[in-house]
Amino acid sequence: MSSTRDPDADKRLAALAAVAEVEAGMLVGLGTGSTARHAIDAVGALIAKGMRLRAVATSLASARQAEGVGIPLLDMADTAAVDLTIDGTDEVDSALIAIKGAGGAMLREKVVAAASARMVVIADGSKRVARLGAAPLPVEVVPFALASVRARIAALGAEPMLRMADDGPYRTDQGNAVFDCRFGTVPDPRGLAARLQAIPGLVGHGLFLDEIACAYIAADGVVSRIERPVQ
Ligand code: 5RP
Repeated sequence: MSSTRDPDADKRLAALAAVAEVEAGMLVGLGTGSTARHAIDAVGALIAKGMRLRAVATSLASARQAEGVGIPLLDMADTAAVDLTIDGTDEVDSALIAIKGAGGAMLREKVVAAASARMVVIADGSKRVARLGAAPLPVEVVPFALASVRARIAALGAEPMLRMADDGPYRTDQGNAVFDCRFGTVPDPRGLAARLQAIPGLVGHGLFLDEIACAYIAADGVVSRIERPVQ
């Protein structure tokens, strides 16, 4: 919605604003992507200054980065509760409903978000939208079900595009495929999420409905904080 002169500087500003919420002793969820990278560096800097923290990562790439900056990592497979997760987003609207997954990590990101007492997203101003749907919605599919899931998504009105890597079909950290689906604008994200979740073989999608408690959006050097109203 808002133009940014330096999106990477804004990503870093949003990340630093979110990392200011990190307190000693926390178990932190580390997101994935170019904005989350700034947050991981900042969490590493807190540890380097002596703050006691542990973390779980939402992707193998983020785990590698976290290890490189000295963040002690737990295995999410052994972790039921996370204090604060900081992650990026591809789109977020004023109700804090988001589309995530351009980086392909939406399944692990949602597992970590759902286990978190608080999840915040961080983004430059280009990610703030009035209506979701300009970004394609990624869905994760077990390879066995590719054709049947493609047909079911097409029946819902989208154009599923199989995500490709340099050496063939893209694979997630779980070894699954991704369809990037253009539904046009998404007037009923809850209804769409329910219909997607009901498709056998579709194991995850990038719609985040209730997980996000707060968004830090930086545009042209100014950070806005949008809190979900207490229900
Ligand atoms: C990865 C994600 C990312 O958080 C999202 O794609 C934003 O990435 P970036 O900060 O690089 O724009 O959902 O699965």
